[in-house]
Amino acid sequence: MKTIDAVWEKRNLGVETVEFIVDYNDDESVLAEILNAEKQYNVVKLPVNKSELMALLQDNGYRFVECMLSIQHDLSEAKIAATKRLRMFNLDYSLMDEPDIDDLFQEMKKGMFSTDRIYNDPRFPKEAAAERYKNWINDEREKGAAIYKLLFRCSAVGFFIIKKLDGGISNPFLVGLYDGYQDKGFGLSLAKNILCECLKQGARKVIGSVSSNNPAIIRLDEMLGYEIRDIEYVFVKHRTG
Ligand SMILES: CC(C)(COP(=O)(O)OP(=O)(O)OC[C@H]1O[C@@H](n2cnc3c(N)ncnc32)[C@H](O)[C@@H]1OP(=O)(O)O)[C@@H](O)C(=O)NCCC(=O)NCCS
Repeated sequence: MKTIDAVWEKRNLGVETVEFIVDYNDDESVLAEILNAEKQYNVVKLPVNKSELMALLQDNGYRFVECMLSIQHDLSEAKIAATKRLRMFNLDYSLMDEPDIDDLFQEMKKGMFSTDRIYNDPRFPKEAAAERYKNWINDEREKGAAIYKLLFRCSAVGFFIIKKLDGGISNPFLVGLYDGYQDKGFGLSLAKNILCECLKQGARKVIGSVSSNNPAIIRLDEMLGYEIRDIEYVFVKHRTG
């Protein structure tokens, strides 16, 4: 098991946070370690087929909040060719400048992200989720991630941000459509443009994480040929006192 002192969450959420990443080989003995190392806000990520630990966590005040799906696209010619047969809007995209990024942060404040474990936690104010994503984007931009706007009739209607990992792997870790542009059929074009940009940048593989609370993005990624490689169960606990 990995125990991560999530110091960035103190800035984002104002609480001391620890994340426990349980390994496939761990057994029930990690429970004692978890209970000993708890802080104000505790997150446990559990591999599948750990039913004993699942029950024990829930007996000890942990609440199941979501499944996190690790997804992957191999950018194979066959899969890219298959996306050409999908009917979709043909939207363009371009790199953002500073005013575009300010606009994005304004859009995020309207509640663009509403499926994550922070937004859906009554212990955190609704604004905390957007603030957390803003901080995350700024941190990754400093480390070199590129951020793009999706264009419809020359206006920005969405965004995506791509982080380059080692070994030719690209990770578009945050994407979204702006207020008034969701549920209009733009999502597929957004997700397709991400693949195109990754190919353009010379990636050989695209990886990402999607929440089971967000079936819209899972469906789009599935249509475009992403595969689910792994699933983890996520539990949280707020320690009082
Ligand atoms: C995830 C997200 C990008 C998906 O986009 P979306 O707009 O929901 O998805 P689509 O563009 O495929 O739209 C699909 C819906 O629009 C409807 N639609 C309306 N007009 C349409 C058209 N001309 N063509 C296709 N679909 C159309 C479809 O019927 C479909 O509705 P359904 O879900 O009831 O079947 C979007 O919901 C979003 O930005 N969410 C917030 C941010 C987020 O969660 N990001 C992902 C995590 S990083």
